[in-house]
Amino acid sequence: MTTTKTTISHLADHVGTTVTLQGWLYNKSSKGKLHFIQLRDGTGFCQCVAFKKNVGDELFDELGALGQESSLAITGEVAADDRAPGGFEIKVSGAKVYQAAEDYPITPKDHGVDFLHNQRHLWLRSKRQWALLRIRDRVIFSLRTFFAEREFLNMDAPIFTPNACEGTSNLFEVGYFDTKAYLTQSGQLYGEAGAMAHRNIFTFGPTFRAEKSKTRRHLTEFWMLEPEMAFAELEDVIQLAEDMIVYVVKDVLENRKVELEALERDFAKLEAITGDFPRLTYDEAAKILDEHPDSDFVYGEDFGAKDETILSEMHNQPTVVTHYPADFKSFYMKRDESGTKALCVDILGSEGVGEIIGGSQREEDADVLKQRVLEHELPLDAFGWYMDLRKFGSVPHGGFGLGLERFVGWIAGVEHVRETIPFPRMMTRLTP
Ligand code: 4AD
Repeated sequence: MTTTKTTISHLADHVGTTVTLQGWLYNKSSKGKLHFIQLRDGTGFCQCVAFKKNVGDELFDELGALGQESSLAITGEVAADDRAPGGFEIKVSGAKVYQAAEDYPITPKDHGVDFLHNQRHLWLRSKRQWALLRIRDRVIFSLRTFFAEREFLNMDAPIFTPNACEGTSNLFEVGYFDTKAYLTQSGQLYGEAGAMAHRNIFTFGPTFRAEKSKTRRHLTEFWMLEPEMAFAELEDVIQLAEDMIVYVVKDVLENRKVELEALERDFAKLEAITGDFPRLTYDEAAKILDEHPDSDFVYGEDFGAKDETILSEMHNQPTVVTHYPADFKSFYMKRDESGTKALCVDILGSEGVGEIIGGSQREEDADVLKQRVLEHELPLDAFGWYMDLRKFGSVPHGGFGLGLERFVGWIAGVEHVRETIPFPRMMTRLTP
């Protein structure tokens, strides 16, 4: 008999024919002379039904003895079946076992979070984790497509850096021959150099912060996508961020349905993301928090996680918050006419998720910027190259940083960022 090798993702093209799938045994149940094998092959999950009379006694017994995550090839006819998860079923006629696995540690029962994280190298195979990383992959693809369509150049920033971008309190210091370096907190400063060379660029890479917080929103290593535009003001930055969010959400809804369903995501929540995001200034947000019984917000300070949750639960779209007090914001942010507020923006995801984007218009005046570096007690000599960007053809410019793991978590409806990156790094986790 001739069979075609295919994958679960392509079963629709093979209904009524005999195919071979190569994968792993995800789950199995047996009823008399019948085995139901849930096969996963990396591209999807599929039920395979093996009748004793179709596969013979020997193979039937071999399949019956297989443990979870055994690797095997299954041959059989593809049947379309609306009741089957995924819509197809394989009527098994043959099989070949690559390796019979025993005692797989992650069983269909509930396990503790720490246990699962210790087994992350295996946990990646579970349906929920599989779905999440496929959504992450699509988000990255979609982001890259969005920026390519708008003619933004991808120009990545170094990971070893001589200076801080986002304050000195959470820098990772590493030895660098006979001197020291820091792991980058943000590609932004390099992105600004890129914008002066290529007009509109984005950097995309891992960024590092020695965050001592153990919240569901913080990793020590996370991926950030940072567009930077020459000849742009705060309003342009906000518009770009909004267009990007709407574009990516729509694309993921169209292309990752199975995965969103596996996560039991409420589609209506994503369909509501259509643009014209509600806006608040810091002062307006502060007033809301002042009057909120659950908030212990203090005017003049940054919003805490609880405050962001309160604000982002108010609307069914992301909330745009602008004009924070310049005092606690980064040195490079341009200020508004009052001189006290920064021309900056945070975008909070809906459903209580909190900040997913931080950005600003940058200070373009060389003298003012120098003043800010000194006020922030940053080493001026390390910023010499950055000052040059203001000396040679300075223009209004700005951009933002999107935290990939928070963005994926928000889209997927998953609370904790540790599940939206393949191998999370947190204060208390460096393995596997
Ligand atoms: O607001 P942040 O600190 O902005 C910057 O780094 C700017 N230099 C970006 C720019 O304008 N080019 O960080 C940007 C985003 C946050 O909104 C958040 O989504 C994410 O990065 N982020 C984290 N994600 C996970 N774990 C952490 N510890 C994070 N810190 C920031």
